[in-house]
Amino acid sequence: MAPSDDVILRTSGLRKEFKGFVAVDGVDLAVRRGSVHALIGPNGAGKTTCFNLLTKFLKPTAGTITYNSRDITGMRPAEIARLGLVRSFQISAVFPHLTVLENVRVALQRRRGGSYDFWRSERVLARLDDDATDLLEAVGLAAYRNGTAGELPYGRKRALEIATTLALGPEMMLLDEPTAGMGAEDVERTAQLIRRVSADRTVLMVEHNLSVVSTLSDRITVLARGQVLAEGDYDTVSADPRVLEAYIGTGHA
Ligand SMILES: Nc1ncnc2c1ncn2[C@@H]1O[C@H](COP(=O)(O)OP(=O)(O)OP(=O)(O)O)[C@@H](O)[C@H]1O
Ligand SMILES: [Mg+2]
Repeated sequence: MAPSDDVILRTSGLRKEFKGFVAVDGVDLAVRRGSVHALIGPNGAGKTTCFNLLTKFLKPTAGTITYNSRDITGMRPAEIARLGLVRSFQISAVFPHLTVLENVRVALQRRRGGSYDFWRSERVLARLDDDATDLLEAVGLAAYRNGTAGELPYGRKRALEIATTLALGPEMMLLDEPTAGMGAEDVERTAQLIRRVSADRTVLMVEHNLSVVSTLSDRITVLARGQVLAEGDYDTVSADPRVLEAYIGTGHA
C-alpha cells in the first residue's frame, strides 16, 4: 500500500482569516487511517478554528481538505457525515426530555435516513432497541437507559454524545475536547471509552488534557499561532523545546 493510501484525512495549505487576522495559517495535516490523532497547542493556537474547518462549520479562506482521497472542501456537515466523517454532537444536540435509550434510537433512525415511519414494523423497532442497547452498553450507560438525558451527570452526558455519534456509524470521529470540564473519574472513563471506540475507526480529537493525549494518541500535531509547530508521537513532541517554549510562552505549561 502506498503511504498516501494510509491517510484518511488530509489538509493542504489550510488557512482561515478573520477580518485579516490569520487564525489558521497553512496547515498541512495527514491523519492515518485507524489512528488516534490529537491536535494540541496553547490557547489561541487555532485548534478550534482548525476543527471547525474540518467539520465544515467554517469555510476555509484557502487550502483543501480531502477525505478518503475525495475533495470535501466545499461540502456541508451533513454531506461529510454521509461519507462517514462525523463530529461528536454538541451537548445541546442531546434531547434532554427524551430518555437515554430514546436519544440513541433517534440517532440510529437518522443513520437509516428514516423520517418517522409510522408503518415501521415491530420487528424493525425491536431491532432498533437491540442496537441502541448495545451502544449504551458500549459506552457504559446501560444502567441509565430509562432516565431522561437531561438528568444525566455531566460526564455521562458526554458518553451519551459519543453513543449518538457512534449510532451514525462513523468511519472517522472528530472529538472536540472530549474531557473538557470533567472531574478525574469521568476523564479516566472517557479516555477508556475513546480507546474502545477507536479500535475500529479513526479518531481526531482536540484535547487540552495532556495526560489523556499521552495515553491515547498515536500521533500528535502541535499548533501554535495557526501553524504546525511539531508533529510526532507523545515522546517526540513533548521533548521538543519549541513545544515547551510555546506552552510556557502562554503560561499554559
Ligand atoms: N470568529 C472569530 N473572529 C475573530 N477571531 C477569531 C474567531 N475565532 C477565533 N479567532 C481568533 O483566532 C485565534 C485562534 O482561535 P482558536 O479558538 O482556534 O484557538 P484555540 O487553539 O482553540 O484556543 P483555546 O485553547 O483557547 O481553545 C485566536 O486568536 C482567536 O482570538
Ligand atoms: Mg479552542
